[in-house]
Amino acid sequence: MANVVAKWFRLMLRDAGLLHDIGKIGISDTVLNKAGRLTDEEFKLVQTHTIIGEDVVRPIGFLRDVSQVIRHHHERYDGRGYPDGLKGEEIPLAARILAVADAFDAMIHDRVYRAAMSVDEAVAELVKGKGTQFDPQVVDVFIEEVLPRKMEFTRQAAWRGRRRGKEQC
Ligand SMILES: [Fe+2]
Repeated sequence: MANVVAKWFRLMLRDAGLLHDIGKIGISDTVLNKAGRLTDEEFKLVQTHTIIGEDVVRPIGFLRDVSQVIRHHHERYDGRGYPDGLKGEEIPLAARILAVADAFDAMIHDRVYRAAMSVDEAVAELVKGKGTQFDPQVVDVFIEEVLPRKMEFTRQAAWRGRRRGKEQC
C-alpha cells in the first residue's frame, strides 16, 4: 500500500511540476517578460496565475489533487506567500516540495531581469530561505538527497552526449 501511495504522490508531483505555471496563459507577455521591477498592480496580476491555473486544471477529474498544488505553489512557509497566505504544514506537502524545486530551477537559469546563479549560489539561497520561504525539511532533503542524484544524472547525460558525438565523427 505504501508503494502505491508513494507512486501516486510521485506522479501527482510530476504532473504538478509540468502544469504549475499553466495559469500564466491568462497573463500578458508584456508583464511576464518585463525586464524591470513590476509595479504593485502588475505583481498582483502575476499572482493570479495560481488561481487561473487551478481553475484550468480542476475540472479534469484525475488532476483534481494537482489543481491544489498549482493553487498553493507560491505559498511561503512563514505564511507570507499567495494566494491564501497558508503557513507551514497547512500548505500541501507537494506544493512545499514544488516551491523548492521551482525556486532552484528559476535561480540556475537566466531570466530577463537577471543572469543565472551557480548551483552553489542557488543552494545558499535555499538555505537562507529555510523556515521563512521554504519548508526546512524539504530544503534539507533536496540538498542532501535529490540534488546529488540530479548532478550525477546530468554528469552522465553530458558524458553520454560527448561519447555519442565522438562516435558520429
Ligand atoms: Fe508560479
